[in-house]
Order: sequence, then structure tokens, then C-alpha cells
Amino acid sequence: MTDGTGDSRTSNQMWGGRFAAGPDAIMEAINASIGFDRRLYAQDIAGSRAHAAMLAATGILTDSDAAAIREGLLTVLSEIEAGDFPFRTELEDIHMNVEARLKEIIGEPAGRLHTARSRNDQVATDFRLWVRDQCDQAAEALTALIRALLAQAAAGADWVMPGFTHLQTAQPVTWGHHMMAYVEMFGRDVGRFRDARARMNESPLGAAALAGTGFPIDRQMTAEALGFDRPMANSLDAVSDRDFALEFLSAASICAVHLSRFAEELVIWSSAQFRFVALSDRFSTGSSIMPQKKNPDAAELIRAKIGRILGATVALFTVMKGLPLAYSKDMQEDKEQVFDAADTLMLALAAMTGMVADMAANRANLEKAAASGFSTATDLADWLVREAGLPFREAHHVTGALVALAEAAGCDLPDLGLTEMQAVHPAITQEVYSVLGVHNSVASRQSYGGTAPDQVRAQVARWTARLEGSE
Ligand code: ARG
Repeated sequence: MTDGTGDSRTSNQMWGGRFAAGPDAIMEAINASIGFDRRLYAQDIAGSRAHAAMLAATGILTDSDAAAIREGLLTVLSEIEAGDFPFRTELEDIHMNVEARLKEIIGEPAGRLHTARSRNDQVATDFRLWVRDQCDQAAEALTALIRALLAQAAAGADWVMPGFTHLQTAQPVTWGHHMMAYVEMFGRDVGRFRDARARMNESPLGAAALAGTGFPIDRQMTAEALGFDRPMANSLDAVSDRDFALEFLSAASICAVHLSRFAEELVIWSSAQFRFVALSDRFSTGSSIMPQKKNPDAAELIRAKIGRILGATVALFTVMKGLPLAYSKDMQEDKEQVFDAADTLMLALAAMTGMVADMAANRANLEKAAASGFSTATDLADWLVREAGLPFREAHHVTGALVALAEAAGCDLPDLGLTEMQAVHPAITQEVYSVLGVHNSVASRQSYGGTAPDQVRAQVARWTARLEGSE
């Protein structure tokens, strides 16, 4: 067979026994994964070393063959890490590249490594190990972001700002409370990565191609050597599911949405119209034509890059949804999606952490904005219920009339005179002014989880203790 350029190719040295000719160049291009799965080299070598040790312990290989294999694999590892490993596309993937190089280094015993194993359980093992590591890294990066948010929250536990619904001023809240809302979200993200990690931590190694093996292997031993809790209980499942990758991507997608919403807020808050925060020069860029501009590019790019993570998630769900058991080559498409999503997530988390650590809230502007837009109207209605005994619906109506009055007069609620207010409802007294200020408003929100500075400080303390406890 020719590849269209006239070259004749030799059959694959790993599986080419029944093949008279090698693949077409296009076949090689669509088939090879070495361009991306080389990222699994460390996991692949760790898996092979554990497998070889087990083959010796169970008497399937001689101790000297296993020792030669294990040593040789360390040489391969150092070659790859030194950057002088000859990756070869014709060897398709990382598994066959490593094994072929091992053969060049140690000779005949290399051919015994693949006893009682298949690339199907091998790749499932390698990829699980890689994704497991990413779960740990995501949890760690999220913890750094949470720390940066806690510092913001502690500094501004009693700074008032407008709380929004529909992006319309709703009620005053505290800066610390807003920061702590994200601490809760990112805290749940940490939990999702940890949950996913715990569930994926079972070893596929030894499932072989799909049915298990007739060799007397010890799957418990390889599972333990690789830090897995136990071997997977069904060989078909072990080689053919990628739910661990889907779970990682799902956790990453939810985290990404949290990042994107926060990024959106930072874009809005740093605009000239809001001026709630100043982002540091380190995380902003200028315009090549408009000298006054300082653009929140890092926030915008976080918001945009999240699309890659959501896209990868949809892509892998789509790859998996039609596959009969057990392995199909379709699954080779799992890696690039997960690699890109993981890289994007780590970059977005690092950028967000840097931005949050550096950003300066504009306390005066936050407070000014908090007081405008009749943000204490609910406090006024609550006061009418509490102090004047009005039913809430009536209090709501009376407050609405007072807001209309202030709006017509072009002032805020605390600027209305007492007699003006009493004309709307006679039960209103001088005392009402105590609830119209934004500081009183937030201080009164003492319900558990509310925005009162005391509540915020308590939540910061709880989170700080929690992070210290987990160290
Ligand atoms: N490169 C392959 C993958 O990533 C390895 C498994 C190949 N297995 C096979 N039966 N062809 O899925």
C-alpha cells in the first residue's frame, strides 16, 4: 500500500504481525495521539513500573527481567524529562513510544512488559492518574483564590455597597459579604474536585483488553503502588468508561461559570461608570490609541476562556454518548479536551487570584452608590411593620409612595422631611431616619448568613479556621 506520495511503509512493530504493509499517511495522521498524549509519560512509566513489579511478585516474570524493565523505564523517564526522547509518530501513542524505546535500551525483556495487560487498561490507568492529579491542583489553586477573597472580605467587612437584583439597586450589602459569596461558591468547587477524585481513585490496571486475564496477576498490588484505593471491580467498565474525565470536566465547568460571573462583575465594577474597584496595572492593559484607557483584559479573557472548558465538556459527552462497551478508538479523543480544559482552568484561576489579591475597592464610591437608588426602601417598609404595626403589604405600598415622592423631588429617602412623610402615613415618626442610612441597614441584617458586618466577620473566621484545619 502506498500513502499517495509513493512511499511504501513497513507494518507496525508493535501490532503489525498480520499486516503486510504500513498505514497510509492520512491513516497515521488521524490515528496517532503521540502529539498530545505524550503529556501522560510520567503516569505511563509509573503504571508500567508498578505492573512489572507485580509481574515479578506473582512469578509471571523473572526478577531479573522485571528489574531490567524497571531500571530501563527510569532511563526512558530521564530521557523524556531531559527533552531528548525521540518521539515517533509511527509508534502512534505514548504507550508504544515508551515500550519501543525500552526495547532499544534493554533489549528482549522489554517485550515481556506487556504480559497480562493491554493498551486499553494502560491508557485508562494513565489518564485516571493524570486527571486525579489535576483534581488536586484545582483544589489547591481554588484554595489560593479563597485566601485572596478572605483577605478582601476581612478588610472590607463593613464597607457598604449596593446589592443588586436584575443589576438594579436592591438593598445595601457589605463588600465583605459580596466577597464571601464567592468564597462559598469556590469552596463548593473544591468539594466537587475532591468528591470526583475520591470516586475516580480506583485502578483499571489488570482489566487487560476488556475481559481480564488468565495470568495470576495481583491487581491489589498495582492499585496500591499507584495510590489507588482499590482495583476497579469490572474489567469492561474499567477500560470503557470515562466518567472520571466527565466528572472532572463537569466540576471544571461549574467552577468556570463561577469564575466567569465574577470576571463579569470585575469588568462592570472597574468601568468609569461604576468605579467600584481599581484593578492593578499588573492585571490590566492600555489601549494603543486611547491614552486614558485601562482595560480589564484579564477579567475579559477569563470570561471568554471559560467557553473552552464548557466546549470541552460538551465535546467529551458527545464522544462518549454513543459508544457500545467496551473500548472504542473514539475514546482517544478524551485527552485533548481534558488537557485544554485543565490548562485553561488553571490559568483562569491563577489570573483571578492575582487580580483579587491586587484589586483596590473604592470604599467612598461603593458607599455613595449604596445610598442611591432608594436602597433602604425595604428597611423603611420593615420599620413600618415593626414600629407602626402596618401589615407588610400596606407598608410596601406606603414605602412605594414615599419613593415616588423622593424621586419627584430628586432626592434620596433620608432627605425627605418628616412632615412630608407623615402626609403619606401619619404613623411615621422621627425614629424612621435611623433605618434610612445604609450603615444601619446592613448592621440590622443579623440573620444567619446575612450581610451584617458581624456576620461577615464570623464567616471569615469560620473559613480561616477551616483552611487552617485542612493544612
Ligand atoms: N492511544 C489510545 C487511546 O488513547 C490507546 C489505547 C489504544 N487501544 C486500542 N485498542 N487501540 O485511546
